[in-house]
Amino acid sequence: MEAVNSSSSISELDDISRLLDRPRLNIERKRSFDERSFSEMGIFEPVNSPGGRSGLETPVSSDRNSFEPHPMVAEAWDALRRSLVYFRGQPVGTIAAYDHASEEVLNYDQVFVRDFVPSALAFLMNGEPDIVKNFLLKTIQIQGREKKIDRFKLGEGAMPASFKILHDPIKKTDTVIADFGESAIGRVAPVDSGFWWIILLRAYTKSTGDTSLAETHECQKGMRLILSLCLSEGFDTFPTLLCADGCSMVDRRMGVYGYPIEIQALFFMALRSAMSMLKHDTEGKEFMERIVKRLHALSFHMRSYFWLDFQQLNDIYRYKTEEYSHTAVNKFNVIPDSIPEWVFDSMPLRGGYFIGNVSPARMDFRWFALGNCVAILGSLATPEQSAAIMDLIEERWEELVGEMPVKICHPAIESHEWRIVTGCDPKNTRWSYHNGGSWPVLLWLLTAACIKTGRPQIAKRAIDLTEARLLKDGWPEYYDGKSGRFIGKQARKFQTWSIAGYLVAKMLLEDPSHLGMISLEEDKQIKPVIKRSYSWTC
Ligand code: GLC
Repeated sequence: MEAVNSSSSISELDDISRLLDRPRLNIERKRSFDERSFSEMGIFEPVNSPGGRSGLETPVSSDRNSFEPHPMVAEAWDALRRSLVYFRGQPVGTIAAYDHASEEVLNYDQVFVRDFVPSALAFLMNGEPDIVKNFLLKTIQIQGREKKIDRFKLGEGAMPASFKILHDPIKKTDTVIADFGESAIGRVAPVDSGFWWIILLRAYTKSTGDTSLAETHECQKGMRLILSLCLSEGFDTFPTLLCADGCSMVDRRMGVYGYPIEIQALFFMALRSAMSMLKHDTEGKEFMERIVKRLHALSFHMRSYFWLDFQQLNDIYRYKTEEYSHTAVNKFNVIPDSIPEWVFDSMPLRGGYFIGNVSPARMDFRWFALGNCVAILGSLATPEQSAAIMDLIEERWEELVGEMPVKICHPAIESHEWRIVTGCDPKNTRWSYHNGGSWPVLLWLLTAACIKTGRPQIAKRAIDLTEARLLKDGWPEYYDGKSGRFIGKQARKFQTWSIAGYLVAKMLLEDPSHLGMISLEEDKQIKPVIKRSYSWTC
């Protein structure tokens, strides 16, 4: 403990040492978790699980409570282990898909940073942290390389979208080939990679209690480089992070350029995670000051301008336009006529969410599951907003979850709009892939959000749906159709994050104390600042 207190920054935002001092059932869980929900479901008080577990080949998924171990769990572990990638004999990640039947490999034989997150969480929850440590070190080493696209040199802090290991059986050498977007379809920049890396470093630290990895020179420097990129000053008038299309999970043109919710939620969570791991040395302190300022501005902006519920929608509907000066109510000059019809039809009286994007004269009202779940996990959403997001999911279950959890975004864009927004992308036709497709990987995020908000029944319902089909269908990458009934047109089978996402969801529900590694409790320093109070009954 001494070492922790002297060299790591123990911020008010997230206190690693408190976790290390205490059993793994930490404050976050106690506070936000509705014990009654669990006892109603027949799930008893979760047993504390020690950091390291033995029996690495055996899934620790247990039958100690009302859960019968589902046969899918063992199958999933086998499939997950088959996807392991080794560098000089050490596991360093999992490939995106182990699909031998697919003719086109494209880049699905690579270790994607974002795809590895659920794999990493599964291994951490199963008491196998070494692969996660290897991955974190390998990727931070890759960050240190010089990165160029044509003649343009990328920022030092840029993290790879993916990497692969080339084995030369003759020379007996292993070589790492990384992709920073220079090979990716559309040359998209993986803005989310750096954020996921920081979030994962915190998950590793929380789960193992090993602060030494985060304290290494490599990790401290890596974090600072990522932070330098996203905290740098520019021409911005907003604290949100400006991005190009395709810079995260939706890695194709889908109208997510500007200030997409996914990136803002990850940005917020990564900033808070970094706060808890940066050292209190001169460089670290300087970053911490910048982070605190940004977090205040970012939470204000997001909670005020991205939040939509019935009341807020009604206010926007009545907005005046062309307002000049500080007194403007309609700050971004959104023209009420631009609100799509479907928003009026599908906004329930109970519930709300962070919309997809906000920029001058533009509100993208689409629902994006990942951004909203991460907003709950990182406590970008206030407790009231988090509860409202879960209310919305319950109220709009058919649209947002359907028959295969979870829809990536809602609704799909079609016809003329699809032509303009996607550039006629045949992979992103309506209700397919990124355009309203259903992605099993999102199950772990939904489950984590459910547990944090004390709604485990919702997670259970989603897991039951998944268990009815996922294994039988060969762990597809995504499903198509308005309610997600059809295996996706071009979906890979044995998609690793579909497999790992299922395992993480199962383990979280069985032992909710795991939540602490991927969730941040509310920061009391950041005051809720929504002008219009969120209203349950309007
Ligand atoms: C697709 C997804 C992307 C994922 C990659 C590998 O490109 O859109 O989010 O990382 O496949 O699975």
